Amino acid sequence: MPDETRYAEATDGTPSPRTAVVIPAAGRGVRLGRGAPKALRPLGGTPMLVHAVRAVARARTVSLVVVVAPPDGAAAVRTLLDEHPLPQSAGDTEVIVVTGGGTRQESVARGLAALPGDIDTVLVHDAARPLVPVETVEAVVAAVRAGAPAVVPALPVADTVKQIAPGAPAGEPEPVTATPERSLLRAVQTPQGFDRTILAKAHADAPREGEGATDDAGLVERLGVPVVLVPGHEEAFKVTRPLDLVLAEAVLARRRVTDGF
Ligand code: C5P
Repeated sequence: MPDETRYAEATDGTPSPRTAVVIPAAGRGVRLGRGAPKALRPLGGTPMLVHAVRAVARARTVSLVVVVAPPDGAAAVRTLLDEHPLPQSAGDTEVIVVTGGGTRQESVARGLAALPGDIDTVLVHDAARPLVPVETVEAVVAAVRAGAPAVVPALPVADTVKQIAPGAPAGEPEPVTATPERSLLRAVQTPQGFDRTILAKAHADAPREGEGATDDAGLVERLGVPVVLVPGHEEAFKVTRPLDLVLAEAVLARRRVTDGF
């Protein structure tokens, strides 16, 4: 059934601005061990990337998903997405594939460059967070549409966090320089949501050398634009290490039992 809110037209006949999600999925996933690029590895028999695309496409407000594929893997990603079409609940959400770069920052920048002109709200969501609930996606979109230029889902941290001096040799004990107050720290997740113009400027102004930014909101902070946090979700965790795969499989198994997912 067509989603009327998604394609609503303004009274003067111009189409309403739309929301897109850029999914950087070009990482190798080295910390997960050897094998295929992380986004292509299976979870519950379905590639992680497919879970991530479905998770964001389920949001009624999202009308376009831009998947950023590994530089040598765009054809494989297109085939994969063809083999796993979106469920009906995703409405008419369009999915396009572009190729990424050597850093996450570069991959996101390439995704942004592929957005059509009528997109005014952009979310950036890691393929490595395949189980984000649709409510979290909708909450981020709603906060941006309500006027916040940059919105980040976040959770309090469970562990106390230490800051260390840079440059300690690998394998040597690391000198501690500070212990930030835990109650003032938050662990941030994705999707992070933005006014499109602001995120594009943040990426255009960001230095490209080094390992690049791991967090889009951090680039927006550099512009002096306010960034706000909304509640994240424990199931939006990032699959980084082998144990995270075990947790993700357990979450999927629980969903199958509780919601017939
Ligand atoms: O490496 P990390 O876990 O921080 O990656 C977060 C997300 O960024 C992953 O979904 C990964 O595929 C993506 N990424 C990318 N291009 C890179 C490196 C990472 O799209 N060059």
